[in-house]
Amino acid sequence: MMSKTQDDISARPDFRLFGRAQGKPLSARQQALVDHVLPQIDLPLDGEIDAAALLPGRSAHILEIGFGGGEHLAGQAEAHPDCGYIGIEPFLNGVAKALTYREEKGLDNLRLHRGDAREVLPAFKASSLDRIFLLFPDPWHKKRHAKRRFLQPATRDDFARILKPGGQLRIATDVKSYADHCMAEMQADERFSWRANRADDWRLPPADHITTRYESKNLGDCAPVFMDWVRNAD
Ligand SMILES: C[S@@+](CC[C@H](N)C(=O)[O-])C[C@H]1O[C@@H](n2cnc3c(N)ncnc32)[C@H](O)[C@@H]1O
Repeated sequence: MMSKTQDDISARPDFRLFGRAQGKPLSARQQALVDHVLPQIDLPLDGEIDAAALLPGRSAHILEIGFGGGEHLAGQAEAHPDCGYIGIEPFLNGVAKALTYREEKGLDNLRLHRGDAREVLPAFKASSLDRIFLLFPDPWHKKRHAKRRFLQPATRDDFARILKPGGQLRIATDVKSYADHCMAEMQADERFSWRANRADDWRLPPADHITTRYESKNLGDCAPVFMDWVRNAD
């Protein structure tokens, strides 16, 4: 029988994944982590999600959406043990990998949720996050699929609501049309300012960036671009 965390998200009519929600079978160790550890560190979905309450005593609270195999998320959590991290990802094998990193590196500052971040963002407490990462989101190249892209007016509204004033949103992509899409979406929004110092800044990986296996595959049609946006005070 499938556990609650294992149900096939890709089968739901309201959710379209760019790839598969589940890949090769989990190892016994990964399955045990999914069955026994994930429920303990999952997000409470029956009320408000307050990152500071879930990860108390941390100097900053950071969300990564679509963390894939979890290399960036776990790397950040390891590099900044004073900060609390939350990762949301629908792909079961990715969640299992992140759980393995969490266990191997002893990352007690990391909470994970398997699911669609669009469903979970509205539950986050207002002005509660210092940072959000949206790195190499699924590109949905075709024009008729553009509305499936993660960055949309509704998710932008969620970002604006849940980031603290001065909080940062980092978007990275190696797909030119997605970069253009993000620029158009974000620049039209007065709640955010672009943090580039020079025009070329967005072509340079930020000093704190951690490259993932997915990024290294260079599957896009342009060099990776990194856009840091700051949530302005109202
Ligand atoms: C192209 S991969 C990039 C993975 C990772 N960010 C990296 O840079 O290696 C995009 C990821 O976003 C995830 N994703 C797609 N739709 C999502 C959604 N609605 N909520 C959360 N994650 C999502 C996918 O499952 C996939 O792991």
